[in-house]
Amino acid sequence: MILIKLGGSIITDKTQYRTFRKDTVARLCREIGDSEVGTMIVHGAGSFGHVLAKKYSLQNGFTYYDQVAAAARVQYDVRELDSMIINELLNEGIPAVSVPPGSCFVMDDGKIVANDTEAIEALASVGIMPVIFGDVIMDRKKGFGICSGDQLMEVMCDLFKPTAVVFVSDIDGLYDKDPKTHPDAKLITEVTAENLKKIDSESSVDDVTGGVYSKMEAMLRMSTADRECILVNGSVPGRLCSLLKGEKVTCTTARGGLK
Ligand code: IPE
Repeated sequence: MILIKLGGSIITDKTQYRTFRKDTVARLCREIGDSEVGTMIVHGAGSFGHVLAKKYSLQNGFTYYDQVAAAARVQYDVRELDSMIINELLNEGIPAVSVPPGSCFVMDDGKIVANDTEAIEALASVGIMPVIFGDVIMDRKKGFGICSGDQLMEVMCDLFKPTAVVFVSDIDGLYDKDPKTHPDAKLITEVTAENLKKIDSESSVDDVTGGVYSKMEAMLRMSTADRECILVNGSVPGRLCSLLKGEKVTCTTARGGLK
């Protein structure tokens, strides 16, 4: 089974509140179906989550009363996003079911407590795809907090031991600098514990590279000696399908674990 995260930047327009990229999601679901590979999907919140979460500082936990309505609204919005994605999966004949993370997990100071996985495992055991997503969920210490799709990828990875992990985004992979502001930015095709060390020493004051560093770290954490973790551009038609079928495509591949 290949574990896939559909990132918020590919499934929504992150700059506009609640903008669903229906055609792109329909195409990606078709590519997943056409690949005929067993998959499991996690997705981000994009502009259905980040816009209000930022406005009301939900990532800081419960600190003032107006956040309560915002937290409820974000939960509603990301469920709507999830329903639209599930609909596209069902249209492709993929039996998918929504699993809002706040209905089975809590967090403890920002860390997911994944004690109760029985319902998720039961769905998978009969061939139903549990689809979990970035959301606002309750936190033992902070009241509530942001549970990201990336954190959930790590939980699903531990639980289902996929053969590969794929992050679908709107960029070709990780770059050594921000490609939008640095035309000479180079694509990092391979991420290992060794080249992570290099990025670290060159980048202590650079925010953008710091961002790359933490992404590389998360990708390496999910990779092992025999499980690659890949970042691929889902806005190029056919690329995800080719990757899932084992063909060589432009991407960033993490391998070998964090060590
Ligand atoms: C964020 O989830 C959840 C909320 C803001 C509620 P993610 O961090 O996984 O979402 P994307 O992929 O960045 O949009």
